[in-house]
Amino acid sequence: MKIQVPENIKSIVPYPPGKPIEELEREYGVKDSIKLASNENAWGSSPKAIQAIRESLAKLNRYPDGSNYYLVQAIADKTGFSPDEVIVGNGSDDIIEFLVKAYVQNGDEVITSHPSFLMYQKVVQVRGGVNKIIPLKGMHHDLEAILASITDRTRLIFLDNPNNPTATAINPGDLYTFLSTVPESVIVVLDEAYVDFMDSEVQVDVYSLVHNSKGRCGVVALRTFSKAYGLAGIRVGYGLMSAEVAGFLHRVRQPFNVNQLAQVAAIAALNDTEFYEATLRKTREGKVWLQNEVEKLGCTSYSSQTNFFLVDVKGDATALYEAMLHQGVIIRSMKAYGYTNVIRITVGTTEENSRLIRTLGSCLGELGYVS
Ligand SMILES: Cc1ncc(COP(=O)(O)O)c(C=O)c1O
Repeated sequence: MKIQVPENIKSIVPYPPGKPIEELEREYGVKDSIKLASNENAWGSSPKAIQAIRESLAKLNRYPDGSNYYLVQAIADKTGFSPDEVIVGNGSDDIIEFLVKAYVQNGDEVITSHPSFLMYQKVVQVRGGVNKIIPLKGMHHDLEAILASITDRTRLIFLDNPNNPTATAINPGDLYTFLSTVPESVIVVLDEAYVDFMDSEVQVDVYSLVHNSKGRCGVVALRTFSKAYGLAGIRVGYGLMSAEVAGFLHRVRQPFNVNQLAQVAAIAALNDTEFYEATLRKTREGKVWLQNEVEKLGCTSYSSQTNFFLVDVKGDATALYEAMLHQGVIIRSMKAYGYTNVIRITVGTTEENSRLIRTLGSCLGELGYVS
């Protein structure tokens, strides 16, 4: 039997996740590898979250609470939003899908930047929507070009702020001006996956952006427990939006989209300020140290509002990535994004950072990139 697969599905290039440690060790025969490639939390997960998961294990024969009542309540308390303005998802990826499912039909347009988080474009493609992809300008979202590309078919604009992979944040003043110009018929999604790592001067007040949208576009903010809260493996994220938008997203989500362990872990993590604050402090310190060390090696590091940063290694990034893999260190090459000489590094523990710098130094020498 020959089943027809729609063109929009055939042409999807699968999302390229960072190489898992197990795969690297199997393929390259190396041991004690480290992964500084997926912007995860190097210091594990909140001990309170782990304890909450343990306590919840006996209840796995039951379906989770489909309304996510206690988690929604905890997020509402933390953010000042009311519970009917909060949606939780199986990672913030899940909420990206809800938005596209709810608002995009065949031929509708969604604007994203390139390079930015790849999932937006994939989900739009699955839905049969049209991706309008605007190149970054100097590693920043080009808000003017985005505005100029809005048409009456535009439904959503995704802005990851800070942007992944460039780690740049939008100037808040520029963002407010931009939002005041986007038509009412469009929703702007501010993906704040890395908001916790941002300097306070560049953080924006999403509460007022969502609530004061009369006469202009709607705003949705996305957040995740995968980064600062250290729960990437259990998959939980949330969105903040008007109750009206949330109502539509509830219609398209699966009834039990967030599992029981994720719900209790996220509540506990939200209350574990000690783990959270330590993560932010160690990320800040590690980033300063790493950026300084890569400069000493003759590379150029770019400034960053996240737990990762870009480095110009002055030679082919993919060859360097391969050389580092052979020494058991996983980073990301940005060559596929058009940055031929640039790698992306996630901040790790003190030991991981030292290993990274030693390996980077020896691979740069081996490849003859810097003297
Ligand atoms: C900008 C951005 N948004 C969303 C996500 C997805 O986060 P989650 O793990 O909550 O699905 C990521 C993950 O790396 C990201 O970089």
